[in-house]
Amino acid sequence: MLKVVILAAGQGKRMRSDLPKVLHPIAGRPMLTHVIDTARQLGAARICVVYGHGGEQVRETLKALDAPDLAWARQEPQLGTGHAVLQALPALADPAVATVPATAVPLPPTFSTLVLYGDVPLIRAATLRRLIAAAGDTRLALLTAHLDNPHGYGRVIREGNANEGKVLRIVEEKDATAAERAIREINTGILVAPAAALERWLPQLGNRNAQGEYYLTDIVALAVAEGMEIVTTQPESAWESDGINSKAQLAALERIHQRNLAEALMEQGVTLADPARIDVRGVLTCERDVFIDVGCVFEGSVKVGAGATVSAHCVLKDCTIEAGARIQPFCHIDGATVGAQSIVGPYARLRPGAQLAEDVHIGNFVEVKNSTIAAHSKANHLAYIGDATVGSRVNVGAGTITCNYDGANKYRTVIEDDVFIGSDTQLVAPVTVGRGATLGAGTTLTRDAPPEQLTVSRAKQVSIPGWTRPVKQKKV
Ligand code: UD1
Ligand code: MG
Repeated sequence: MLKVVILAAGQGKRMRSDLPKVLHPIAGRPMLTHVIDTARQLGAARICVVYGHGGEQVRETLKALDAPDLAWARQEPQLGTGHAVLQALPALADPAVATVPATAVPLPPTFSTLVLYGDVPLIRAATLRRLIAAAGDTRLALLTAHLDNPHGYGRVIREGNANEGKVLRIVEEKDATAAERAIREINTGILVAPAAALERWLPQLGNRNAQGEYYLTDIVALAVAEGMEIVTTQPESAWESDGINSKAQLAALERIHQRNLAEALMEQGVTLADPARIDVRGVLTCERDVFIDVGCVFEGSVKVGAGATVSAHCVLKDCTIEAGARIQPFCHIDGATVGAQSIVGPYARLRPGAQLAEDVHIGNFVEVKNSTIAAHSKANHLAYIGDATVGSRVNVGAGTITCNYDGANKYRTVIEDDVFIGSDTQLVAPVTVGRGATLGAGTTLTRDAPPEQLTVSRAKQVSIPGWTRPVKQKKV
């Protein structure tokens, strides 16, 4: 069984931000949540996050992830990575995790402890599964990497200087000799140890080193002294173990993560105009033959149906685009449903509660909020449809506005099937336009319009014969 410690107490000075480092987002979510998600994918019995700087803000922000498997340990002051893991031990010792069925022979389960980092967000579950398997119940497993420029990292010291030699210890950059610094195999920091061994080693760590810190890495020499076997594995991709210390590194890992998401979409059959120019900050689910043009941002949960297209520079959040719909460039869609074969945009805004049925056309500079629009209806130009129920085959003319708000309350507008609304009409809610009615252009509708009739509210047009334009008076 697995326990996981996630170190997240460091300040992250180089981010130059008031936001604690581990709360900076990757794909729209705090980087720490990615690490917790990965730990959960591994089926960890218990996860303990070691927090420090901005601790309360970190806990508050991640409240949504609270569950019995997640514990928090405060590290104050921060005396090094070994000291940090030590703070997690009481939370990980919780006997509640050792849920042995009452009928089973009461053998205590063997736990392994995996150490992860809140600022190493892209480590993949598959890599960690290999590391956990390599550790088994009896070995210490280190995730290492071979870098062309190992500067700053702890180096893996092996017997006989050979790459295959037994691991003897890890030496930190600041404590290393020139010869040790020439070693290119580095410690990523991620490791798996038998839980009982870790509990034995951590209290033995000292801090007599260049940084005066309790180094987690010193457990390697302790394991060697006990005769424990030490194994190493490497991540499949180098970026998996990359940490984030600066805004530039944050941006670099964001791009890598987005590239990975884009590749997964293409694997599912989505056509991306450019996999380097899409941002998914949430979960984007696409059916067959979806086309997505450049510069689109997807947030929250977005579903796109078969054959639908999303044109350039659209922002789609928590919405459903049904099969064959076309979202034209520069649309903002949030909390809405776009029915099959509908056409939206360019430059349309669908706000929460906008529900378009099939074959609805919403054109440029049209805003729809908390309204249902039934099949085959159109609002093609410059309109506001808010708190309205619109029937089928309705034509909403350019410049039409539902006046849904009196400054205190909101009211509904009902437009029944087959209505034709002339341009520049105001519908002062609550108001109903009866089936098949026509509203003349420029109407300000304050009472219900009866079905099938023309309703128009407009000052009568007059022409004044003999009228002349004023002429400029000569200055004297
Ligand atoms: C550590 C490793 C080094 C490795 C490198 C990989 C040690 C002694 N060294 O070095 O071998 O190559 O990571 O990046 O472990 N943290 C705490 N509390 C503390 C100190 C650190 O929570 O008291 C957290 C930090 O927030 C960070 C992580 O531990 O997420 C690593 O700390 P950092 O100081 O960056 O480690 P390095 O000194 O770079
Ligand atoms: Mg350090």
